[in-house]
Amino acid sequence: MQVRIVVVVCCALGVTLAYPYGAPVGSCLAMFPTGHAVDQQTSAPPFQIQVSQATYNPNDVINVTLHTLASDLYKYWEGVLLQARRVAGNMDEPIGTWTIMANDTNDLKTLNCSGINNSAVTHNVEKHYVTKVVQWTAPPQAQGHVKFRATFVKNKVTFWVNVMSATVQDPTAEPITDNGKNGASSTRVIYGDVFVLATLCTLLKRML
Ligand SMILES: *[C@@H]1O[C@H](CO)[C@@H](O)[C@H](O)[C@H]1NC(C)=O
Ligand SMILES: *[C@@H]1O[C@H](CO)[C@@H](O)[C@H](O)[C@H]1NC(C)=O
Ligand SMILES: *[C@@H]1O[C@H](CO)[C@@H](O)[C@H](O)[C@H]1NC(C)=O
Ligand SMILES: *[C@@H]1O[C@H](CO)[C@@H](O)[C@H](O)[C@H]1NC(C)=O
Repeated sequence: MQVRIVVVVCCALGVTLAYPYGAPVGSCLAMFPTGHAVDQQTSAPPFQIQVSQATYNPNDVINVTLHTLASDLYKYWEGVLLQARRVAGNMDEPIGTWTIMANDTNDLKTLNCSGINNSAVTHNVEKHYVTKVVQWTAPPQAQGHVKFRATFVKNKVTFWVNVMSATVQDPTAEPITDNGKNGASSTRVIYGDVFVLATLCTLLKRML
């Protein structure tokens, strides 16, 4: 009986992403991968979003680097959804537009979220990503301070939401202080369970 349950779970784990060719526009607002049917991770995210500038002016182009931390046990993500959001006021709207580097167009693509062309970045194929640089272009008008916010998906049952960059300040807005910390929030830990299951699956594959 227990073996049968593990086999079923192994089959489910084999389908690593609900959306192997990128997040759907339906996930633009909440940035939550609902197709995964489990909660996000509660642990500190093993990913970081780095920015090439601490402030922005209209039409500035900022390099945004997504990378895996050395502390990550497996050191990759498979799926991502990235947007710039205001830190105050309307925090639901994606700000600015994205450009995928010419040599990354097989791996990454832009999404039109909230009816704004190229206002988000997502994966284009299911593979192991370790680091990626994408370019953000600020809107032609000042929008207040922004943060880059991402959902990183390791596999169908393991993902982190609300991974945040440091605040990129708009010099025309009221200055703020920022500790640059990740804003992970959450409800349930399953990473350990997944690791145990993955080990069991490997053993089972050898046995069956
Ligand atoms: C942004 O990335 C591009 C392409 O790799 C590079 O040419 C440019 O120097 C980078 N700019 C900054 C500010 O890091
Ligand atoms: C694309 O170019 C950048 C900068 O030259 C490099 O760091 C990156 O690894 C390249 N990406 C791929 C998929 O080759
Ligand atoms: C986003 O909008 C542009 C311009 O209308 C369109 O060419 C592109 O196909 C759209 N992208 C997606 C993913 O729908
Ligand atoms: C989106 O792109 C399309 C095609 O390039 C263009 O016609 C449309 O005006 C753009 N929409 C916005 C809101 O910029």
